[in-house]
Amino acid sequence: MRSKASVRGHPIHPALIPFPFAFLTGAFFFDAAGWLVDRESWWTTGGHLAAAGIATALVAAVPGFIDYLFTVPPRSSGKRRATRHMLVNLLAVALVAVAWIMRRGMIAGPDIWVLGLELAALGLLTAGGWMGGVLVNRNQIGVDHRYASAGKWKEQRIAASPGAPGTVANVDELKVDQMKLLHVGDRRIVLGRTEQGYVAFDDHCPHRGGSLAGGTMMCGTVQCPWHGSQFDVRTGAVKAGPADRSIETYRIEQHGNEIRLSLSR
Ligand code: FES
Repeated sequence: MRSKASVRGHPIHPALIPFPFAFLTGAFFFDAAGWLVDRESWWTTGGHLAAAGIATALVAAVPGFIDYLFTVPPRSSGKRRATRHMLVNLLAVALVAVAWIMRRGMIAGPDIWVLGLELAALGLLTAGGWMGGVLVNRNQIGVDHRYASAGKWKEQRIAASPGAPGTVANVDELKVDQMKLLHVGDRRIVLGRTEQGYVAFDDHCPHRGGSLAGGTMMCGTVQCPWHGSQFDVRTGAVKAGPADRSIETYRIEQHGNEIRLSLSR
């Protein structure tokens, strides 16, 4: 078993986004201006900017896709938004690539069809950028979720063992009010430590699928980071909405220095 500590999400993804956005916006305006006044040097610049925009968009997509796979909680409103964000941006880049091919790179000037494709791509990029902003601001993807005494983000994969309890931590691994996200087979389970000992519960907020491991745990209550629902970490009961369903909890046993999780509740 291995344990790792990291910040959730890649801050490098939003850091790279301005490059394709600036290049692709510039490509349209240089092409449109060059086409309007028939100035070759302007639309040649537009062609270079389009190529640079496509290249930097593909580079920026790599950390974005890693976040999509490993940070955005599954079965959540954030996952659906992230899927739309990815598809809209890919379509925008594809449109610019088609326009670039139609004008034969930088050899020919743009015509009305090329400009139309670039303008449509710009509209899609704006929509995709808005969705990306919501993913950061509302879904807190790429945001450091630490609160006082939360410690470093911890995530661990362990083999699923439906029968026998599996060891998931050493007794001193977490401090009181700290959590760790466990991937047990295809389940995401949060291991937390309260004043009364270790607890385990589902990582999935029943409201819109927020990750409770990315929330706040204090005094035996975990709060979802997305809309603030609160749950009792021992019973799973809802203490405050908007969630209206409880979360699953799991049995934890201590054997000597080991904390063991049992998937049978
Ligand atoms: S997803 Fe809305 S409160 Fe958790």
